[in-house]
Amino acid sequence: MINLFSPELNRNPYPMYQTMRQSQPVMHIESLDIWSVFRYADVKTVLSDHARFSSQYGRPPGVDESASEQARRRSTLITTDPPHHTDLRSLVNRAFTPRAVDALEPRIEEIANELLDKHAASGQIDFVKDFSYPLPVIVISELLGIPSEDRDRFKHWSDEIVASADQVLGNTDAKSDSAHQEMGAYFHEIIQERRKSPQSDLISALIEAEVDSERLTEEDILSFCWLLLVAGNETTTNLIGNAMLTLLEQPQQLALLRQNPALLSGAIEESLRYRSPVQAMFRMTTEDVEIAGHTIPAGKRVVAWIGSANRDEEKFAEPDQFDITRNPNPHIAFGHGIHFCLGAPLARLEARIALSTALERLQDVSRVADGPLEPARGFIVHGVTSLPLKFSAK
Ligand code: HEM
Repeated sequence: MINLFSPELNRNPYPMYQTMRQSQPVMHIESLDIWSVFRYADVKTVLSDHARFSSQYGRPPGVDESASEQARRRSTLITTDPPHHTDLRSLVNRAFTPRAVDALEPRIEEIANELLDKHAASGQIDFVKDFSYPLPVIVISELLGIPSEDRDRFKHWSDEIVASADQVLGNTDAKSDSAHQEMGAYFHEIIQERRKSPQSDLISALIEAEVDSERLTEEDILSFCWLLLVAGNETTTNLIGNAMLTLLEQPQQLALLRQNPALLSGAIEESLRYRSPVQAMFRMTTEDVEIAGHTIPAGKRVVAWIGSANRDEEKFAEPDQFDITRNPNPHIAFGHGIHFCLGAPLARLEARIALSTALERLQDVSRVADGPLEPARGFIVHGVTSLPLKFSAK
């Protein structure tokens, strides 16, 4: 029996994935009554076939969306199906536009430089704690229009909620209730303020957004803010941290990138594939589904292992090689289908600026000590909590 919560496995789940792809590509954990799929083709199907694999995994089997008004109201973009998902996504798209993301570029550069400035003189930095961890929180709080002094509270809430996802496997009712409640009360206040005096921020844009004379309810806005914090922070932290860690482990690839900075986008895509920040997503079957010769009964939880799909030898040549020139690179680190990550352009922009600024300013960079690093909490996210580096400043 696999212990999904062991730090060893969180640090390096790839040998386990390989075994599963070959011997049990569709696996049923009987004690938890949960199904898992490990192969690229199956993971893609589970993520994108929303009619048979529902994202509303809290909904009891047999209860359809219209009959479950309460569940509908409580659901966020990521935990809902069409037609509600289609309406929500087009409303949110009105506010979270490519233009709004592009406009952040100069400010992200400033933030990245400010974070590095603090450590330039000492020649040492914890690349995760001092850089890749604060950067996305500052960006999202500024985007939402939230005072920066509240950042630590966000980080705490989002960490609690992401880590609580583990409990989903052991206890279907488990939630990090106090983090949810505190965050709800906090955003309620801000939304009230913005209704009275709109600003040029995302919360005000969400209040204004309208499609076919539909608007987002306060509950929709609240759950979207909640989702941005949870979906956008630790994921981006881990993308930036994983990319740096992997480049340091593979000095030839780092040298290649330093010689040819145009390979940066390729390096980011390859990091997304090689060490996917989101390793798994959940769905629930709406009917009996046959997949790769197995029948998963209706109303069962299914885990789609993105981290395994992105190392599938059937899809990628030499999947365990980190190759920043890999082209094409059809990884599914941002998901696939109607739930494809809404924040992918922002995550890519943040990673590009963070890594180009860091590689430019941290010369002769190396780890302070070799040895195992502390993995991020939970099996859904994949990264390290600390990455101490030494360097000579430029
Ligand atoms: C959805 C990964 C960054 C917001 C998703 C999904 C994945 C993902 C795999 C699909 C979930 C599913 O199919 O159930 C990532 C990764 C990131 C990242 C790896 C960073 C490297 C961000 C950022 C934001 C964001 C920066 C926002 C600021 C969202 C939202 C959804 C989503 C709102 C739900 C979309 C929907 O259900 O229609 N993300 N994400 N993500 N992501 Fe991201």
